[in-house]
Amino acid sequence: MVKKYKIGLIKGDGIGPEIIDEATKVLNVVGKICDLEFEYSEMLLGGVAIDATGVPFPDATRDGVDKCDAVLFGAIGGPKWDNLDRHLRPESGLLALRSHMGTFANLRPAIVYDELVNASTLKAEVVSGVDIMVVRELTGGIYFGQPRAIENDRAFNTMVYTREEVQRIARVAFDIAMKRDKRVCSVDKANVLEVSQFWRDIVIEIAKEYPEVELTHMYVDNAAMQLIRNPKQFDVILTGNIFGDILSDAASMLSGSIGLLPSASTGAGVGLYEPIHGSAPDIAGQNISNPLATISSASMMLKYAFGELEASQKIDDAIKSALRDGYRTGDIGAYDAKVLCSCSDMGDIVAKYLMA
Ligand code: IPM
Ligand code: MN
Repeated sequence: MVKKYKIGLIKGDGIGPEIIDEATKVLNVVGKICDLEFEYSEMLLGGVAIDATGVPFPDATRDGVDKCDAVLFGAIGGPKWDNLDRHLRPESGLLALRSHMGTFANLRPAIVYDELVNASTLKAEVVSGVDIMVVRELTGGIYFGQPRAIENDRAFNTMVYTREEVQRIARVAFDIAMKRDKRVCSVDKANVLEVSQFWRDIVIEIAKEYPEVELTHMYVDNAAMQLIRNPKQFDVILTGNIFGDILSDAASMLSGSIGLLPSASTGAGVGLYEPIHGSAPDIAGQNISNPLATISSASMMLKYAFGELEASQKIDDAIKSALRDGYRTGDIGAYDAKVLCSCSDMGDIVAKYLMA
C-alpha cells in the first residue's frame, strides 16, 4: 500500500528554489522505489513573501504549516530586503515560523564523509571519522529574549532561558546521546553569564536521569577552538541558540563545505527540515549551488518525521555513492572532482544512484 505524506515546501529566496527543486526530484524517485507518495504544498516565507504580501511570514503560511506532516525549507534573505525594519526582514519571518511551529530542538549533524576527507581545509587525519551532532536550542535565548531595542545612544538584547526550556532541550540531547556514543558536551559561557550558570546547573540535574551518559561542560570560546583542534573528541554538543548558530557553522567546515550540512528542527508537533546554510544571493539563479544539504535534510525528514528509515538510508547511500565517484559541486573541493556538477546535475546524479 502506498503511504501518503503531506509536505509543506518553503523555497524562499536566493538559491532556495533551486535546492528545493533538487530535493523534491530526489524525494519523488525514492517515493516510487519505497511506495511513498508525497503531496507538496508550497508556501511563502522571507523576501518572496514580503514582495507578494508585505510581510515575511504571511497568515497563509502560518495556517498552511499546521496542516502538513512536515515542512521542507530552502533559505531566505538577500540584500534587497536588508534595509527593512527588523520585524519586516526575511530573517524575522524564519524566526517567527520556528517559534510558531514550536521547533525548539535543532539537530545539526556534522559528519565527514570518507569520500571527502581531502575536501576539508583541515588535515585529513584531523577530520576523518568526525561524527558530531550539534543540538541547538532554537526558540529561546538571545534570539527571542525581551527586552530588546535600539535607543538613541545604546542598544540591547536579552539572553534569557527558562528552566523548562533548558530541561526539554537537555533531554533531547541525552536521548540522542543514548543512541550514539553516550557523550554530551554542554557548551556555555558560565564563567561570565548568569544565564549560562543556570543552564549548566539544569543540565547537571537532567544528566542524573541518564546515568549511562557522560556529561562534560565547555566554555563556548574553548569549544570553537577545540572543534578545529580535535573535532573527534565530540559526540553530542548541547548548546543554546546563538552559540549553536555559530558553532554549527564552524563544524560544517570540517565536512568540507557548509553546502553539505542538513538540519532537523523538532519539537511538539510538525518538524522543520532545512539546510544550515543561507540563501547565497551571490550565486543565486546560476545553477551552481550545492543541493546536497537540502537533499540530506529531506532524508532527515523521512527519518525523523515519517519514520521511513529505509527511504532515508537510500538517499544517504546515493549521496555517498555520488561523492565516492567524484561528482562535486564547485564548493566541495573542485580540485579533486572527477565530474564538476551543476546544482541540477547533482540532483540528477543522486536520483540516478537511487535507481541503480
Ligand atoms: C541558521 C541561520 C538563521 C539563524 C538566520 C537566517 C536567522 O543563520 O539557521 O543558522 O541565525 O538561526
Ligand atoms: Mn546560522
